[in-house]
Amino acid sequence: APTPLVDPFQRAISYLRVSVTDRCDFRCVYCMSEHMTFLPKRDLLSLEELDRLCAAFIRLGVRKLRLTGGEPLVRRDLMTLIRSLGQRVSSGELEELTLTTNGSQLARFAPELADAGVRRINVSLDTLDPAAFKTITRWGDLAQVLNGIDAAIAAGIHVKINTVALRGVNEDEIASIAEWAHGKGMDLSLIETMPLGEIDGDRTDQYLPLSLVRARLAQRWTLTDIPYRTGGPARYVSVGETGGRIGFITPMTHNFCESCNRVRVTCTGTLYMCLGQEDAADLRAPLRASMDDARLETAIRDAIARKPKGHDFVIDRRNARPAVGRHMSTTGG
Ligand code: GTP
Ligand code: 5AD
Ligand code: SF4
Repeated sequence: APTPLVDPFQRAISYLRVSVTDRCDFRCVYCMSEHMTFLPKRDLLSLEELDRLCAAFIRLGVRKLRLTGGEPLVRRDLMTLIRSLGQRVSSGELEELTLTTNGSQLARFAPELADAGVRRINVSLDTLDPAAFKTITRWGDLAQVLNGIDAAIAAGIHVKINTVALRGVNEDEIASIAEWAHGKGMDLSLIETMPLGEIDGDRTDQYLPLSLVRARLAQRWTLTDIPYRTGGPARYVSVGETGGRIGFITPMTHNFCESCNRVRVTCTGTLYMCLGQEDAADLRAPLRASMDDARLETAIRDAIARKPKGHDFVIDRRNARPAVGRHMSTTGG
């Protein structure tokens, strides 16, 4: 077998995130501006090409694969790719195939996802208030997402909720979101907003450090740090009173890059070695150059050899431009 991917900082790359589309049916205020220009569909890799790309990474040691977007479930015929990748889970080549979704299409796809071998998904949900949900997503329907979550649970999929902590928007709701999630047997991950791409508002106004959120939760509940890990950047606590877990994803207040195990591919076949850096490698040309994957593998190895130490995000009013020009939806978080 080929030697697994290890970067210049001795970090093994075992987690690939694939953004299957830059499109989304929502426009969350902290993620996108209201008017977005999306890629023309002809620029996208085909589902067969995405499958080949994933297979190449798996040969090079990737064991965890997450499909993201934009909203992955708005990509036409995505289930074809998911079924093919799901077979790599049954064959043991892949340990986990998962998805990060906004939940809008879940009610429809949950049974098929479970059937294809998806055992766990993360659903982004920043409020349980229907009016606030409409404001945050600009037009999303909360009931539809809640139905989707129930459908996923009913299909036997473990659901984790992702909530971006936003000052003055959902900060007073975080404990009730945790109670709701824990009541349904779901973990909750809280996320600090990151300066990725232009939005209509100012991220400085929205930014809420999770150190503050944690301190507030600790006044109400008994929080205990636990060694539980899911392969992503979250660090978890258990909540004595609810019996559930809360994860903290803290790119701004506590950098976790030292233990980074992941890279990202966009829907056009661009490999980003870090969410918070502009350096990238084109994999589409070597992918299309020949059906033999030798050039593709070389391109991947050359890129991993340039993986940076970490991001250098700052949220600062005097430096209003985002650290990275592309939106989260291009690289899928
Ligand atoms: P698990 O498998 O459940 O651990 O999921 P995950 O946290 O790896 O994936 P998810 O898509 O749920 O990501 C949650 C948030 O963490 C998103 O907002 C991501 O952007 C953020 N995140 C994940 N990996 C990184 C990373 O390497 N750097 C930074 N800065 N943020 C990340
Ligand atoms: N900062 C932090 N999280 C973001 N997300 C989207 N944009 C941003 C941002 N700028 C979140 C979504 C989803 C995850 C993939 O990324 O809410 O949970
Ligand atoms: Fe869409 Fe997710 Fe961005 Fe919201 S955060 S606009 S659901 S990609």
